[in-house]
Amino acid sequence: MKLIGQKTQMIVDEPDHEILRLFSAPLYKTHIGINNDEKEILMGEKKWVGQEDNILIQSESDQILNLDGIERIKNEINKHIKKYIKSIISPLEDDTEFIITQSWLNIINDGFHHKHRHQNSIISGAFYVNTTMKDFIEFDSPLAPFWDMLSVSSKELNEFNSVNYREFVHSGQLVIFPSYLTHGVPGRFKTKGIKSQPRCSLAFNTFPVGRLGGSHEQHPGVNTKKIIEERLTIKLGAQHQRNEVKIDSSKSS
Ligand SMILES: [Fe+2]
Repeated sequence: MKLIGQKTQMIVDEPDHEILRLFSAPLYKTHIGINNDEKEILMGEKKWVGQEDNILIQSESDQILNLDGIERIKNEINKHIKKYIKSIISPLEDDTEFIITQSWLNIINDGFHHKHRHQNSIISGAFYVNTTMKDFIEFDSPLAPFWDMLSVSSKELNEFNSVNYREFVHSGQLVIFPSYLTHGVPGRFKTKGIKSQPRCSLAFNTFPVGRLGGSHEQHPGVNTKKIIEERLTIKLGAQHQRNEVKIDSSKSS
């Protein structure tokens, strides 16, 4: 079980009492920008599943970050994933790395993106390719189900009594968050007489490789990178041996 130290607890000071924020969920945000060429690569081609009048259109590929011409965006995202890991997960070993396993595009013209969580991922994120001033992402508090047990209206909303949080987003913005956080886009509707811009985001998932678990010599945990490398070496060794056998047998015939 992980316990946080007293140093990491933030304290709300009042003259006669204090309130500790015991646990919270991180939402990392930064601006990495997007230029016209990158936007053209991501939005220009027809690479979508579904028709344009669908509520949510997604890319066929889930390896969008491997497209040519958007290497800068991929590098920036990886750089910020590293910063997130360092400050939030703070791995004991430097060889624990989070790699992007999937990346895909979402487009909403006039509609919504249902509430969801990202499976088979530890940290997820979204990079905003195209947005309007009104676009946001909405997160649900992991404690929201408990608030259903008793509902008391609040005079003022704060991080303890709120069940969701809206972060307004803009083109070029990157957000990173734990994959367990439920999120979505409640509704996006065209304003009469105004030509609407599509909301386009590039979402991604990650998975850790390297040292997992373990905190001392007796219980070192596992190093998934080493295990895979060892298996590949064994496999390549076996392949090499088979080739040698082949060469030998051809010589003898
Ligand atoms: Fe998502």
